[in-house]
Parts: sequence; C-alpha cells; structure tokens
Amino acid sequence: MDRRKFIKSCTVIGAMSTINPGFFNQLFAQEINLVKKYNKALLIKEDGTPLKEEDIKPYNYYLFFYPFVSTPCYLINLDKEVPPCDVKLSDGSIYKFKGGVGIKKNIVAYSAICSHQWSYPTKDYAFINYYSPEQKSQTTNRSNVIQCCAHLSVFDPSQGGIVLEGPAPLPLANIILTFEDGKFYAEGVLGKDQFEEFFDNYKSDLREQYGTTKKAKSLVETATVMEVGKYVKEQIKC
Ligand code: FES
Repeated sequence: MDRRKFIKSCTVIGAMSTINPGFFNQLFAQEINLVKKYNKALLIKEDGTPLKEEDIKPYNYYLFFYPFVSTPCYLINLDKEVPPCDVKLSDGSIYKFKGGVGIKKNIVAYSAICSHQWSYPTKDYAFINYYSPEQKSQTTNRSNVIQCCAHLSVFDPSQGGIVLEGPAPLPLANIILTFEDGKFYAEGVLGKDQFEEFFDNYKSDLREQYGTTKKAKSLVETATVMEVGKYVKEQIKC
C-alpha cells in the first residue's frame, strides 16, 4: 500500500471508530475456545432410566443439575432444528454454538443461572424461566425465550443463549449435550459460566441445602431431568 492510501485507510478507520466504538472489536473479532469439559453425565428420568427424545415434549422446559449437584440447567425442546451459530461477546470475541441435538436437532440446554446477578431456580421460586411460543411475556412481549424477571434480561435459546435485551452482560452458558444411541449426555459447558460467582453469592443458601460448600460443588455422575414444576413451587413469569 502506498503512503497516500495508507493514510486514507487510517483516516477511515479512525472515523469509523469514533462513530461506532464497537468498530475495533468487530474488526479484530477473535474466535475463542470457551469449552470446559466436565463429567460425561447420562441424562436420566426420575425413575432412573435414560431420558429419551419422546420424554422431552415440544416447547416444554425441564430442570436438571450439571456440572455440579447445585448448579441448575434448563433442557428445552424447541420443536425445530436449532442450527449452529456464532455467539459474540461484548469484547468482540466469538465462540461457536453447535446447535441442537437429538434426531431433529431441536434439544438445547443452558445454565439456569442468570448471567446478570445470578438469579436461579430454587425450590421456592424461579424468576428465570422459558416462555413457549404460546406464552408471551407481559413485560417484553417476547416468546420462545428464556427471561429473567429479576431485572428483565431476555436470552435466545435458539441462538446459543445470546442476550436479546436487558442488563445481562453475557449470554447464558450453554450445556454441551451429545446424543448417542437414543440417549442424551451432558459433557461440558460452553461460554462464560457464572459458577464461581454463584458459589460466592449463595454460600449460606448452598450450605443450608447441601451441608457444606464442598458438597454443593460435587460433580454429578448422572443428571436427573424433571419437570420444572416438580422442583420449583412458583415459576414467576412477567
Ligand atoms: S438477575 Fe437476571 S436479570 Fe438481573
């Protein structure tokens, strides 16, 4: 590039960065690996038998704990193929969401710990919930989303858990599922999980429920999948 062209390019880049502060982030977007492997845990039903595809009803969501005995996740049947996509973070970095699993590639799972201030489903209530296409949120008018009513963050389960609106700074962490011989397994977590913040913030609650923090941090070997309503008394939707 000759000197004049070089100076012109610099001027254009400088102008773009003034207009759009995210310009440099987009220009230098980097693909990063945010996969954390944990135990390969078979998803089972409450009777102890392996969860099958037909057990996961369309547009229903289910609760299980993974990778730790105390960290809740939602399993959702979105009833259509969920294709892979790039998930962009606010610093411009990107990671790859692999899409749904199962025969129809319509099953996804996410950490149910909100990435804003770690609201999560307890036995008493859940502010963070999935809204089916027939069930619009009254506050955001959105459906087929995961929404946290604590401060109205909305996440898209069909796009790797990206934030659609609200104060959450990060997508929901994606639970990496595999489907082998008709059985589902959880194998790891993709994205910026909130586990350390969760353990720090809810120390006393977790001690009360699990005895010690160490026990709350035990890794699961299998994960029991249940209807959310069987675990949570009140699903608070807004
Ligand atoms: S804790 Fe979920 S939006 Fe604030």
